[in-house]
Amino acid sequence: MFNDLSKGLAIISGLILTMILVIFGAAFFVAQEQQKYTIQAPQEPIEVKPPVVLTEQQELGESLFKTNCASCHKRYKKAVGPALYGVTERRDQEWLYKWIVNSSQLIQSGDAQAVAIYNEYNQSNMNAFPQLSNDDIDAILSWVEIPK
Ligand code: HEC
Repeated sequence: MFNDLSKGLAIISGLILTMILVIFGAAFFVAQEQQKYTIQAPQEPIEVKPPVVLTEQQELGESLFKTNCASCHKRYKKAVGPALYGVTERRDQEWLYKWIVNSSQLIQSGDAQAVAIYNEYNQSNMNAFPQLSNDDIDAILSWVEIPK
């Protein structure tokens, strides 16, 4: 009698234990499967550079530069002529207007800076751009001075 009771209890607790194991096993399996299909967020945040938004003036400058100057100049690197980034700090505005419109006239006038850069570049001649207004030149320079 006593023996039967404990036997019964043993069977029941055995069943309960088995059920618990089955439930845990199933939950574990499901969790693992789920992890396989979830898309993991990248560990390192991806760095997104904000796009450079050009002002209207800079856009005009870019197109003028590309049609008139790009054959000899780059912004950040020396080409046939000097790199132009930073030129507005080296030269004053009036000098730049005169130079860009007609550099040989400025050289011939004996302007010291003009003669120096002309000699530095082995007296190669830059085209004259009488068609460019001061506003056009300002536009070109505003594009040239966009930091790298
Ligand atoms: C045919 C080639 C050529 C073209 C085209 C040209 N340049 Fe030049 N540029 C030169 C050279 C070469 C020099 C160096 C001075 C020299 O030898 O006359 C120079 C010098 C300059 C300088 C003086 C730089 C300094 O450090 O002082 C400026 C500013 C300049 N160019 C702007 C322009 C602009 C703006 C345009 C377009 C509208 C232009 N250049 C088109 C060849 C060119």
